[in-house]
Amino acid sequence: MDGNGRWAKAQGKSRQYGHKIGSSKVYDVFKQCVKLGCESATFFAMSSENMLRSDEETEYISLLLKSSIEEHFSDLLLNKTKFKVIGDITKLPDDIKQVIKNAEDKTKDFTDLKLYIAYNYGGQWDILNAVKSLVHKNHAITTENLNDYLSTTDDFPDLIVRTGGYKRLSNFMLWQSCYSELEFLDKLWPDISDHDIKLIFDQYLNTERNFGRIKK
Ligand code: FPP
Repeated sequence: MDGNGRWAKAQGKSRQYGHKIGSSKVYDVFKQCVKLGCESATFFAMSSENMLRSDEETEYISLLLKSSIEEHFSDLLLNKTKFKVIGDITKLPDDIKQVIKNAEDKTKDFTDLKLYIAYNYGGQWDILNAVKSLVHKNHAITTENLNDYLSTTDDFPDLIVRTGGYKRLSNFMLWQSCYSELEFLDKLWPDISDHDIKLIFDQYLNTERNFGRIKK
């Protein structure tokens, strides 16, 4: 979800305001994705490297995470949506961790829809964690075993969309993106519209995916 800062600057507003508006788009975009047939979506809110920004900015985004969960919790239950935060949240304040844990616990058995937020997440962190778990449990280091220990537990994205104009993954799901389709939208995150998502999905559906195998 890149571009909140530039979007706010263009309006003469603070970066915090950009994140506030950006955060308010997350659930709307998820609903549009679901409407178009997507069952699982992860929103990359903060990378491990984004956490090196000022305390003021990171704390504000952590509060947005909390209020966003509180605002949409009843809808998650109503629509049987499994919610999870992936990333290292150990250093978040206890009250925020409690809100996350409660939403995760109450939605953990839902299987129809999944809404994940990546917060203090890094693809390198994810791979390292999985390897450490395998070593700790004395399991063989194989592709299949590693998949099971990633924060996404064997759930690879079909499509990754980055807004904001830059063409890079910025440490997002480095293992899981091996055969994802990539879309770089030349729009700032707060400006993303339902129509943009529809166009991206239409393009995705017209893409032949052969996962490196010989075309028939
Ligand atoms: C990147 O844009 C955006 C972020 C680092 C934060 C994204 C956070 C949200 C959308 C709000 C959090 C929402 C939830 C639900 C946790 P940038 O700030 O790097 O923008 P710039 O490149 O224009 O400066």
